[in-house]
Amino acid sequence: MAVQSPKGTRDILPWEVYKWQYVEKIIAELCRNFGYGEIRTPVFEHTELFQKGVGDATDIVQKEMYTFLDKGGRSITLRPEGTAGIVRSYVEHGMANLAHPMKLYYIITAYRHENVQKGRYREFNQFGIEVFGAPGPSVDVEVISMADMLFKRLGLKGIELNINSLGCPACRREYVQELKEFLTPLLENLCIDCRNRFERNPLRILDCKNEKCRQHLKDAPALLDNLCDECKSHFDGLRERLDNIGIGYYVDKNMVRGLDYYTRTVFEFISPNVGAQATICGGGRYDGLVGLFSDQDVPGIGFALGMERLLMEMENQGIEVPKPDGVDIFIAPIGKTADIFAEKLVYQLRNAGINAEKDVMGRSLKAQMKYADKIEAAYVVVIGDNEIESNKAVLRNMKTGEEKDVSLDSIVNRLKKTG
Ligand code: HAM
Repeated sequence: MAVQSPKGTRDILPWEVYKWQYVEKIIAELCRNFGYGEIRTPVFEHTELFQKGVGDATDIVQKEMYTFLDKGGRSITLRPEGTAGIVRSYVEHGMANLAHPMKLYYIITAYRHENVQKGRYREFNQFGIEVFGAPGPSVDVEVISMADMLFKRLGLKGIELNINSLGCPACRREYVQELKEFLTPLLENLCIDCRNRFERNPLRILDCKNEKCRQHLKDAPALLDNLCDECKSHFDGLRERLDNIGIGYYVDKNMVRGLDYYTRTVFEFISPNVGAQATICGGGRYDGLVGLFSDQDVPGIGFALGMERLLMEMENQGIEVPKPDGVDIFIAPIGKTADIFAEKLVYQLRNAGINAEKDVMGRSLKAQMKYADKIEAAYVVVIGDNEIESNKAVLRNMKTGEEKDVSLDSIVNRLKKTG
C-alpha cells in the first residue's frame, strides 16, 4: 500500500491548521454581521443533481466529477461545488415558505478530477454563500461586498474584482445565434476544445485561455453589448451601487464562468500576483436554478471562494496569522509519588482553563526540561518528594528565566491570574 495521500489531496497538518481556524473564525463573524446562517449538506448527492444543476455541457460534469455506483446501484457523485446541493436542500425543506431573503453560508470540501497544480486540487475547500428570493441588484452588491470585506478583514491588498452580465435566457438565445455566426468562419483556426464547445457551450469559447484563440476572438460580439433592457438596467444598477459603496471593479466582457446556471450578474475576484490559478472567488446570479427542481420561480445569487487559494494569497502577501495560545505550564515530576500528585494537579489546572501539560513518557528530568523547551511552555514546575512534603515548588518562567517559590496549592490561582 502506498503511504501517500491520493493525487490532488492534501493533509492540513496540526502546525498549519491554526491558519485555517483563524480564517474560519473571521468568516463566521462576517457571516453573522451580514445575517447569514450556516448550512451543512452531504458530501455526496445523486449524480442527476449536478448534471441538471451545474449543466451537462460543462467541463465539471463532462470531465471532472467523482461519480460511482453505490452498493444499491444508484449513481452517486462527490459534490464538485456547493450551490446545487444547497438548492436541493432549499427545495426539499420547503424553504421558499420561510422568511426571505434566505441567506445561507457554508464551508465545505469539494471534489473535481482536475489536472493538479499549485492552487488546483482534486479535493479542495470552499467558503460559499447563497441568497434566495431577492431579484434586484441591491443583493448582488451585498454578496460582492461580503467577499470584498473578507479580503479587507484579512488584510489582503490588490485583489481585483471583475464583473460581467450573462443576460437572461431570452437575450442570451439571440446573442448565441450572433456569436455562432461570427465563429463559423473561424472555427478551423480555433483549438480543439473551442471546436468541441461550438455546439455544446459556445459561450465558453469566449474565455478560452489559448493565445491563438484569443487573437481570433478579439472582435467577437460581446453579450454585454446585446443585453435586453431589463438585464441592462440590472447591470447598470449593480455598477451604480458598487460605485456608491466604493468597491472598485473592472468589466470583463469575456467572463462567462464554468457553470451553466448563471443568469445576469457574474463576478470573480482575482489575485494579480498568482499566475494561472488566480481566481480566488467566483460567483453570480442563478435566477432559473430553483425552478429547475421545483415549480417555484425563486431568484438566487452567491459565490464560492477557494480556501487554499485564499491562504496561499495571504502567504504571498506576508500576512501573519496570530498563533493560538501555547502551553501555559509544564509539570515535571520526579519519581512515582510526584507523578501521581502531578496527575491530579494537571487535571485541576486544565479544569480551570489553563493549558497544562505533564510528562506521560516516563522521561528523566533532563529530557522533560528539553521537551518543555521544545513545546515552548511558558512556565515549568518541578515536583519531587520534597516539594510535596513542603507544599512548595519553584515556578520557572521559561522566557525570562525568573524563578519563584510558590506553594503548590496556589499554582492554579496564580496561573489563572497571569494567564
Ligand atoms: P467555481 O468558480 O467553480 O464556482 O469555484 C469557486 C472557487 O473555488 C474558485 O474561484 C477557486 O478559488 C476554488 N476552486 C475551484 N476549483 C478548485 C480546485 N480544483 N482547487 C482549488 N480551488 C478550486 C463554484 O463552485 C460556484 N458554486 C460558485 C457559486 C456559488 N456561484 C453561485 N453561488
